Amino acid sequence: MLLMKDIVRDGHPALRKKTEEVDFPLAEEDKKLLEEMKTFLINSQDEEIAEKYNLRGGVGIAAPQINVNKQFIVVHFEYEDILYSYQLINPKIISHSVEMAYLQGGEGCLSVDEEIEGNVVRYARITVRAFDIDGNKLKLRFRGYPAIVLQHEIDHLHGIMFYNHINKDNPFHIPENAKAIE
Ligand code: NI
Repeated sequence: MLLMKDIVRDGHPALRKKTEEVDFPLAEEDKKLLEEMKTFLINSQDEEIAEKYNLRGGVGIAAPQINVNKQFIVVHFEYEDILYSYQLINPKIISHSVEMAYLQGGEGCLSVDEEIEGNVVRYARITVRAFDIDGNKLKLRFRGYPAIVLQHEIDHLHGIMFYNHINKDNPFHIPENAKAIE
């Protein structure tokens, strides 16, 4: 099982690389990896398991965070009574709103141990094209908190960290077209 020691931390070159697209059918080891990523998130949200293995709670993880140079992201969380559980291969944002959004309270990342304060301004709504484990083409729309999580994870595939979206001169700057998400 994946543990915190398997997650590379800020400063590791894997977090700054552009990842490679993956061809189908997926290799068995890639399918296994995607399962392990999902299991890690589920474990990290389970109070007992998280405490036992010292896991930080996470809602998403991208392959570069476990030093794998492939376009894999996994998210697993509930929001407004809907479960968002996806293992996405080669995800791309194909369209987005003009309106922007940011999480009240900022963002965190399994690869960043310290807290970095500031508004991480992202698109309020996105449409994502991706493939599932079996190679089926998906077109998914996200808004609000889920849109933020997906953008955070897709960013990892392009070597972008959440704090790169924070205004350097004024971390709590709120652009005119941006709304807060609680
Ligand atoms: Ni992250």
